[in-house]
Amino acid sequence: MHLRLLSLGFGNVGRALAAMLAAKADELRDRHDLTLSFTGIVTRSTGPVIFEEDVSAAHLVETAWPDGRVGAPVPPLLGDVLALIRQSPADVVLELTPLNPHSGQPAIDHIRAALATGKHVVTANKGPIAYAYRELRALAREHGVALRFESTVMDGTPLFGMAEACLPATTIHGFRGLLNSTSNYVLGRMAAGETLEQAVAGAQRLGIAEADPSNDLEGWDGAVKATVLANVLMDADIRPGDVDRSGLGAEAMRAARTALAPGETLKQLVVAGRSDSTGVTRASVRLAALPPSDFFAHLSGSETALMLRTDTMQDLTLIEGEGGPGQTAFGLVADLVAIARA
Ligand SMILES: NC(=O)c1ccc[n+]([C@@H]2O[C@H](COP(=O)([O-])OP(=O)(O)OC[C@H]3O[C@@H](n4cnc5c(N)ncnc54)[C@H](OP(=O)(O)O)[C@@H]3O)[C@@H](O)[C@H]2O)c1
Repeated sequence: MHLRLLSLGFGNVGRALAAMLAAKADELRDRHDLTLSFTGIVTRSTGPVIFEEDVSAAHLVETAWPDGRVGAPVPPLLGDVLALIRQSPADVVLELTPLNPHSGQPAIDHIRAALATGKHVVTANKGPIAYAYRELRALAREHGVALRFESTVMDGTPLFGMAEACLPATTIHGFRGLLNSTSNYVLGRMAAGETLEQAVAGAQRLGIAEADPSNDLEGWDGAVKATVLANVLMDADIRPGDVDRSGLGAEAMRAARTALAPGETLKQLVVAGRSDSTGVTRASVRLAALPPSDFFAHLSGSETALMLRTDTMQDLTLIEGEGGPGQTAFGLVADLVAIARA
């Protein structure tokens, strides 16, 4: 099978995806009967660029696209991204634009336009899944295409794929997770004696934290991930604003560290559960003082973990070591292979 890709966004994740597709081209062809090419790329600085002839991932890597740009920006008349998505001959639209944690836009509109015109969608952007999962899932079903999002939580850790393929007849009652690498790293450095500012600066130097780390430290990133997990794995219908984020932020982190009892470890913990009596799912992101007996207390650096509470396997835990664009790119590749297999 050959899949033609239109990439919306081509930053850290887009470049890592091109590098992985180039490195794995032979394996994808020989083991999965899959070849891929790019029909176009849209970024904020280049605008929409459509290639006169499809280009390979290797070509994008070799030319360090967009430096050695091989396509032409489309004429202004076609400059509207939604029109471009609708008119594109691509089989798959990749949504790799930045997260808007407060609305999920404009990525939701990008995905609507793609699905409604019969294109599969693979997204690393979790905003659309947090804010519009049911609607987008219904649209994908109506048009007979796939909506895949493995890379939205814990980078490319095979979490949604595992739940889909390997947990038949299973009900997930809840979960608890350390899902925000920046908070985990910063709290770890504070435990080692650094100030919050030093720890944040260190996380920024390593490329873990963004220039403005407030989405991480104030729990928005965790709330968006909790929403994705609850809505997809537990069939809940919540929004990030429904997730309790009380007691977070820089001041709260300093105060909670001071109040820790000997032996305790401070973590930003995401918790969700469904009430047996009402069926309502509640989720929270909070600072938790974990005792040494708690397995999560022993995760370090930017490691992330998720423990699912299931009625078949009881507690099932996934751990990701160091994550980043490379692992996120793997999740996208896994989604593309899943589309080719379907
Ligand atoms: N980095 C990770 O490890 C990781 C892990 C999991 C999930 N994700 C998610 O993956 C997505 C991409 O992350 P990233 O690290 O690649 O971000 P990034 O490096 O900031 O790249 C974002 C890309 O989107 C482009 N862009 C911005 N606004 C756009 C718009 N309205 N329309 C079209 N393109 C637009 C940017 O163009 P310019 O370069 O011209 O500004 C850039 O090419 C995000 O949603 C992120 O949350 C990332």
